[in-house]
Amino acid sequence: MPSSRRPTPSWLADAVLYQIYPQSFADSDGDGIGDFAGITDRLDHLSWLGVNTVWLNPCFDSPFRDAGYDVSDYLSVAPRYGTADDLAKLVEEAGRRGIRVMLDLVAGHTSDQHPWFKAAAEDPQDHRYIWAEGTAGSLPPRFVASPGSRPGGFLPNFFDTQPALNFGYAREDPDEPWRQPVDAAGPRANRAALREVMDHWLRLGLAGFRVDMAHSLVKDDPGMTRTCELWGELRDWLDRTHPEAALLAEWGDPAVSVPAGFHSDFFLQFGGPSDGLPMRSLWNNMHGTVADHWTQRTCYFDAEGGGSAGPFVTAWESVNAVIGEQGFAALPTANHDFSRLACGPRTAEQLPPAFAFQLTWPTLPAIYYGDEIGMRFVPGLPDHEGSVLGPRYNRAGSRTPMQWDDSPNAGFSTAPADRLYLPIDPEPDRPTVAAQRAHEHSLLHLVRRLIALRKATPELGPRGSVEVLHSGYPFAYVRGERYLVVVNPRRAAATLPLPRRALAAGRPVETSGVTLEGGEAVAPGFSFGIFAL
Ligand code: NOJ
Repeated sequence: MPSSRRPTPSWLADAVLYQIYPQSFADSDGDGIGDFAGITDRLDHLSWLGVNTVWLNPCFDSPFRDAGYDVSDYLSVAPRYGTADDLAKLVEEAGRRGIRVMLDLVAGHTSDQHPWFKAAAEDPQDHRYIWAEGTAGSLPPRFVASPGSRPGGFLPNFFDTQPALNFGYAREDPDEPWRQPVDAAGPRANRAALREVMDHWLRLGLAGFRVDMAHSLVKDDPGMTRTCELWGELRDWLDRTHPEAALLAEWGDPAVSVPAGFHSDFFLQFGGPSDGLPMRSLWNNMHGTVADHWTQRTCYFDAEGGGSAGPFVTAWESVNAVIGEQGFAALPTANHDFSRLACGPRTAEQLPPAFAFQLTWPTLPAIYYGDEIGMRFVPGLPDHEGSVLGPRYNRAGSRTPMQWDDSPNAGFSTAPADRLYLPIDPEPDRPTVAAQRAHEHSLLHLVRRLIALRKATPELGPRGSVEVLHSGYPFAYVRGERYLVVVNPRRAAATLPLPRRALAAGRPVETSGVTLEGGEAVAPGFSFGIFAL
């Protein structure tokens, strides 16, 4: 079936995604680590907020060298999160509230503790992983010495404790005899294993998967042709067997991944023709998580106002021109690998314009847990479960426990503070859910109203049209010819002459500061306005 005619689950267009880092959301048993029952206990928060699709970072058996992205059994949940029954209860209780739950499929690698890898390290005939000959000093670049009786070494996919599953190479190379074609026995077995894993969880009522490093499967694949074919084959299988399930890629290049077969892909800090710049040009203020090769100096959501929404708009337009109705690009506020919105010098007053934009732009919004209250990136934490990726890149700052209330450990856990998965944000004015629920003018209430508005207004969803009026300060656009959105995330005021009289007559729907006067949108510092036309 040509990809443009693939069916898309009808619920996805209305999805407001919410990412839960399970170890940090809510701890029900007092061991200091979040768990399924804790999430279940907090579902009313999500339901009150209005999100309808949760994705959980990996919650499978793991030695946790990479916080669970090193899976040692895809079909068992990690005991620290509870039992399979606890997960089933979470899915059921979420479903009762109209919330779907998606898992994280770590497709490209396993843990080196996975029985498949342990067997492969003893058996030279095993082809689930990519093995080259040689001894510790003479292995090809990037290969890691075998931990078992098998000679040679294996190719890791991320950390050395994460051996790459063998999905084959797109090209042969006589100098690299370990390269196997994508239809060799090992790659075929691994593709079948992915289907088995997916089938297992989908039968239990999970709604789909966020797929880790989805771009990484076939090696040396110029143009990603073979990797795309692999996902196309999986999508065809999914359409036949689980047509209501959704696949969200961690790829960062929706113009490639969606035509390949994903229902959606995230704009990320990496990926795509400008290597993540569209997303970073919105949020990344070079504090929090910073990779040394990022040369970017400014971002749009910056108090000094040195950025532009232009790079993001251009990227979104070119993505949209390619994917059309085939699927969706998704825009996260942050994630477990990237700084939170509230990071470095960005203050609480700068967050409402960010959400006003994210929840009215034609992408699928993904809210990272805690961003709805403006939880801050916590700098200076030690490396934990592989959080550090570089001298200025410690992901732990985005992974601290959810701040529920003013009780000990911010209501996250009853464990002693030194036993928590990560420390709570130590700042005395840290935001909490309880405090913000008590105040209608809080960020939390605003995010809730924006979600409700989006849900009630098809023009504001991912399928409504968008006409960009201005991508500097203020950022202004018209959705579905019926809503004017004006966003000014900088400290200085900004004014925009409106090109049509009808725009100037807009009726305020949800505003903070912006007014329409004398044919202009007048936007004080840190303001936004959504107007019905
Ligand atoms: C991407 C995940 O988001 C990240 O947390 C992980 O470390 C790598 N993939 C490796 O699985």
